[in-house]
Amino acid sequence: MKINCNFDRNKKLWIQVGTLDNIIKILSQGMPATISDLLSFLSIPETKSRHLRIMMRLLSCIGIFKSNVTPSGVEAFGLAPVSQHLTTSFPHSPCSSPFVLFLLDHHLVDPCHQLSYWFRRSDMSTTPFEMAHGKTFWDFTGAQPEFNDLFNKGMACDSIFVMDVLKHVGREAFKGIGTLVDVGGGTGLTAAALAKEFPGLKCTVFYLPHVVNSAKKIDGIQYVGGDMFLELPPADVVLLKWILHDWSDEDCVRILQRCKEAIPPKEKGGKVIVIDMVVGVGSNTQTSMETQLLFDLEMMILVAGKERDENEWHELFVAAGFSDYKITSSIGLRSIIEVYP
Ligand SMILES: C[S@@+](CC[C@H](N)C(=O)[O-])C[C@H]1O[C@@H](n2cnc3c(N)ncnc32)[C@H](O)[C@@H]1O
Repeated sequence: MKINCNFDRNKKLWIQVGTLDNIIKILSQGMPATISDLLSFLSIPETKSRHLRIMMRLLSCIGIFKSNVTPSGVEAFGLAPVSQHLTTSFPHSPCSSPFVLFLLDHHLVDPCHQLSYWFRRSDMSTTPFEMAHGKTFWDFTGAQPEFNDLFNKGMACDSIFVMDVLKHVGREAFKGIGTLVDVGGGTGLTAAALAKEFPGLKCTVFYLPHVVNSAKKIDGIQYVGGDMFLELPPADVVLLKWILHDWSDEDCVRILQRCKEAIPPKEKGGKVIVIDMVVGVGSNTQTSMETQLLFDLEMMILVAGKERDENEWHELFVAAGFSDYKITSSIGLRSIIEVYP
């Protein structure tokens, strides 16, 4: 997750480059690219040569790219371990480019500029995102198909990343489950990956209708539209991946209560699986702690949610009527929490 942190810190640079995808595409061809190669591939006028070099040198200095001097004495740039995660050319590392592009989209950056006004307001019901765009995050995704698409692609990319990690860590939590409903499961990639990994597992995606209606549905996955605050389809297990951090404590308790109503008792295999951060778990370096805190800030700005430490999770589970929970493993900076009725 060091990558996320670096990207966050350098948000403005990425935005100004604006051609991130194209630079990555060129550099992922394997050969180091000189400034002159980049100018020609990116259709940037020669007069901007020095300026592009300023950007590329800085991005190399902070570890996003690598710079070398070729045998003929010309400076050339290549991918560094961080930027290798932004290309599909490295089959063993899922491409995070759609997730990064979503995080750096101006709709997510603009609300940061509202923070000083927001802090002076006593009203707690309006987020900086709403101040910038006049709508809550979820209403905005409903109203703006392009933004919705960017969001879905970012989330889908994260699902591929998490499901890839789950093949190695945290599999136990999903073993032996008959039916699972992935609440707020977006376009269904997580459910599809689980169904593939655990043959016999029947997966349902419960989604907010406007999020998925326009997206392609995946064969073999059942889709049920609705509002998770009202009622959920019954299943042995409810999965909440990156859901609860979007909501206040009161809202989380309501969502968890709906989950509890949808599952059988613990003895019959009922449980909720939460995939989210547990602040302090998996964050044993300065960079990883910083990343968890940045996500906490991002949730505050976008959706009035938050990242929680173990005590805060414990309080939510008790308030929603659950009896026990187990933090089994961590996926980078996120954990799998099995919560029992
Ligand atoms: C941060 S995304 C996580 C998506 C997916 N679980 C993942 O990890 O890729 C939160 C999801 O919650 C969904 N959502 C928001 N409000 C909802 C509601 N009231 N009922 C059902 N889903 C909702 C959103 O549409 C979105 O897909």
